[in-house]
Amino acid sequence: MTAASSTRIAVLGAGHIGGVLARRWAAAGRDVTVGLRDDRPPGDDGLPVVAVRSVPEAVADADVVVFAIPGAAMATLIGDLGPTLEGKLVIDAANVVGAGPMNSRASFAQAAPGVRYVRAFNSVGHEVLAQPVVDGAQADGFWCGPADATALVGGLIADVGLRPIRLGGSENADVVDGLLRAWFTLAIREGRGRRVALRVIEEPAHAGLEGG
Ligand SMILES: NC(=O)c1ccc[n+]([C@@H]2O[C@H](COP(=O)([O-])OP(=O)(O)OC[C@H]3O[C@@H](n4cnc5c(N)ncnc54)[C@H](OP(=O)(O)O)[C@@H]3O)[C@@H](O)[C@H]2O)c1
Repeated sequence: MTAASSTRIAVLGAGHIGGVLARRWAAAGRDVTVGLRDDRPPGDDGLPVVAVRSVPEAVADADVVVFAIPGAAMATLIGDLGPTLEGKLVIDAANVVGAGPMNSRASFAQAAPGVRYVRAFNSVGHEVLAQPVVDGAQADGFWCGPADATALVGGLIADVGLRPIRLGGSENADVVDGLLRAWFTLAIREGRGRRVALRVIEEPAHAGLEGG
């Protein structure tokens, strides 16, 4: 068994983002469990190829926890999970819409200071995630987080069909969020539509740093 396939992933939320991530990773042979709310009967989720458990159960057994739930629910759920997140790699795909930061890095740091924080999958619209090639070009999946997680996170991003591009460490969550603001401005305010995507172009000598 490879290190990648032995990494246990919990995806919290099975909507536009979480559902696609879980299905693609399962199709790539990864060990994925979807965490749904306790009051949801297992099997009533439309995800036949992916195991479904309650959120606390899915988190307890996971090495990597992906948050793909509404931003408004993030602070409460992170607080509820608290120390059970310690030592895990958390991937924050949720966007908190309001006056403050769109990421939940501070909430994770408060609830579980030993968490390893990654910001990813938040700056690509779900229409692009569903079909990551736009006009013949593969969309980039921007992320930030610990350097020693590059192979794992880059692999997860590549498995869903995006080209992984790291934007530094966890402290750069607001840099990734800047690309979300750029995407939102292009897609919505400037009227280019939700299939717009961002891509880095560069000289070949610098390309492929993450194997995407
Ligand atoms: N849509 C996009 O284009 C896009 C792109 C990038 C990032 N995002 C971000 O990704 C996140 C998910 O977006 P989405 O479009 O996938 O939303 P969605 O389709 O509405 O799905 C949300 C999922 O979260 C679950 N959920 C809601 N509250 C929960 C809670 N308190 N505990 C556990 N699970 C809960 C929902 O389950 P129930 O059925 O039980 O409510 C549902 O499975 C959001 O933060 C959004 O900002 C979205």
